Amino acid sequence: MNSSIPAIDVRGLHKSYGDKLVLDGIDLNVAEGTIFALLGPNGAGKTTAVQILSTLITADAGEIRVAGHDLHSDPEAVRAAIGVTGQFSAVDGLLTGEENLIMMADLYHLGRGEGRRRAAELLAQFDLAEAGKKLAMTYSGGMKRRLDLAMTLVGSPRIIFLDEPTTGLDPRSRHSMWQLIRELVAGGVTVLLTTQYLDEADQLADQIAVLDHGKLVAQGTPEQLKRLAPGGHIRLRFNAPEEFALAGQVLPTAGRDDDALVLQVPNDGSVHSLRALLARIDDASLEVDELTVHTPDLDDVFFAVTGQPTTNATTDTDEKATSK
Ligand SMILES: Nc1ncnc2c1ncn2[C@@H]1O[C@H](COP(=O)(O)OP(=O)(O)OP(=O)(O)O)[C@@H](O)[C@H]1O
Ligand SMILES: [Mg+2]
Repeated sequence: MNSSIPAIDVRGLHKSYGDKLVLDGIDLNVAEGTIFALLGPNGAGKTTAVQILSTLITADAGEIRVAGHDLHSDPEAVRAAIGVTGQFSAVDGLLTGEENLIMMADLYHLGRGEGRRRAAELLAQFDLAEAGKKLAMTYSGGMKRRLDLAMTLVGSPRIIFLDEPTTGLDPRSRHSMWQLIRELVAGGVTVLLTTQYLDEADQLADQIAVLDHGKLVAQGTPEQLKRLAPGGHIRLRFNAPEEFALAGQVLPTAGRDDDALVLQVPNDGSVHSLRALLARIDDASLEVDELTVHTPDLDDVFFAVTGQPTTNATTDTDEKATSK
């Protein structure tokens, strides 16, 4: 593929189911060899976008090129260049990990010897060598997700779509999945992933697009998005009302929840600013019951760009307020 051609190029993508508008004019551009994160809450349209870009369903309108091929006129060429790990596992629980991989190898007509070789290589790469002979239904969630991704890679795709690769995984499994994704990209693969977590997009992505009710409400690097959402703060909880009242005078810019005896002090979470805050607390001899650091999350980004917190699919917000 010519590196001046984007791996994925989307203009004016529309999709409706009946009278429900699911994707309302999406533009995306993903450079080759990068990670692009489509970030959004439940029902935002993430899976629908992945299904369209990976030729599983058709768009109503839009110009879409994947791996330089026009999705509409040449879906076969697109299919040959991509791999998809769906939101829900494609793993067959009644087969072993190895058999699942060999089944994929058969689909790609790799041939018996080559199929076994590729399966063994992927099992080792995904830390499943030992588990390879066991039925996949005995795997943990993290192991199943790794096998799922390994199956996507059997055909050595240049572009992969990962729909919520770490939802439901424990922190350790998430980190190992992140590491595997980084290694793929280091090998030249382009990744478009979806996620509900700003921290995941922040960890992995070169570019993030925030999807809300089928519209992109923000797009940029992780740094640009976090700058949009200055939601970082320190939360201070107090036991005694007198203590809380005094703290309110010492920290007059803090947001306050008088019922919960909680102050929210705007803070970027750096060691420097944290130390300064602790010094003020010490100087005033305040008794703080609990201190927590809140880093900006998806809710803060949504609040910054839409003026409202994340809403789920069941809420009808088609008539969105235009004022912030
Ligand atoms: N086959 C379908 N028929 C009708 N409506 C659908 C269909 N698939 C998706 N939708 C609707 O499209 C909207 C977007 O769904 P989609 O699955 O793309 O969201 P998502 O961002 O992937 O959400 P989640 O985080 O829950 O996976 C939802 O309102 C959903 O109900
Ligand atoms: Mg989804």
